[in-house]
Amino acid sequence: KTYNVAILGATGAVGQEMIKILMERNFPIKELHLLASARSAGKKMWVNEKEYTVEETTENSFDGIDIVLGAAENDIAKKYLPIAVEKGAVVVDNSSAYRLDDNVPLVIPEVNPNDVKKHKGIIANPNCATIIALVALQPLHAYAHAKRMVVSTYQAVSGAGVGGIRELQQQVEAIHDNKPVEVKNFQYQIAYNLIPQIGGFNEEGYSSEEMKMQFEGRKIQSNPELSVNCTCVRVPVFRSHSESIMVEFEKPIDVEKAKVLLKDAAGVKLVDDPVNKVYPMPLDTTDQDLVYVGRIRKDMSGHENALSFWCCGDQVRKGAATNAVQIAELVIQNM
Ligand code: A2P
Repeated sequence: KTYNVAILGATGAVGQEMIKILMERNFPIKELHLLASARSAGKKMWVNEKEYTVEETTENSFDGIDIVLGAAENDIAKKYLPIAVEKGAVVVDNSSAYRLDDNVPLVIPEVNPNDVKKHKGIIANPNCATIIALVALQPLHAYAHAKRMVVSTYQAVSGAGVGGIRELQQQVEAIHDNKPVEVKNFQYQIAYNLIPQIGGFNEEGYSSEEMKMQFEGRKIQSNPELSVNCTCVRVPVFRSHSESIMVEFEKPIDVEKAKVLLKDAAGVKLVDDPVNKVYPMPLDTTDQDLVYVGRIRKDMSGHENALSFWCCGDQVRKGAATNAVQIAELVIQNM
């Protein structure tokens, strides 16, 4: 069986990667529709030696579509995705518009694949930093049950889309050419800098990105007691996020056991031999799907059953497009 697939936001960083991953994984496509704004309508794109024309998104774009992959901002998702569902499509959405909606499963295939079956038309793809952390954590959580996490993220500019990637490139070039640096997508210059703000701040001083790990983590793990203290930082890296994570578990777990569990876990690569300078780095995790985990050590701040580790993963792939296509694969298995 083959399916009519539409990508909403097909010209963006995540949309472009979705096309690539659908092809890589041989997703059973009958027709592929590339939807974007009026600005991109008519643009030609080559996919697997076939030419496609980007279409302006309208209410009629979803007629006859079986599966929609959403790669646009929240307002666009809210405007079009309910229409797609009404017309009979199943939607996998990468925006944050529906993630915490009780009627919408929030899925990482390595963590809660069965939640896909509960969908009522929309399935949400989690936040990228959350996906990367929870894929790394899953084998340890399944064994010892995570109850508290302290996380610092080092997030790539691709999280801000095509515009974010271009901005880092342009700023680096401007600096080398002794030209003025232009700031558009971030609060400040990101080249040769770090910015400890992703999204707006709440009353307690946490950014929206920092709260996603706790809110989405609880839902994905069906673990309402999980508490997460997170600091999210934008870094001048193109497309892999890195995270420093301390986790406190219900049950005892030591470093050796953690390594054994991670070695065989789905979606994970254990990269942990610090003495020989072997540890995950964002350049190494770019353009592939695994979350690399290393620097695993026992917590030394006095918490019981706690481990620290470091992980990196490609934000555009496993953090967004690959996870969405994996969900779509689960959807068609149940169709
Ligand atoms: P466009 O390229 O035509 O603006 P990114 O996050 O990488 O910037 O990508 C955002 C995606 O969302 C792009 O594909 C963009 O298309 C698309 N988009 C933006 N505004 C609209 C809109 N009004 N209708 C449909 N797609 C939109």
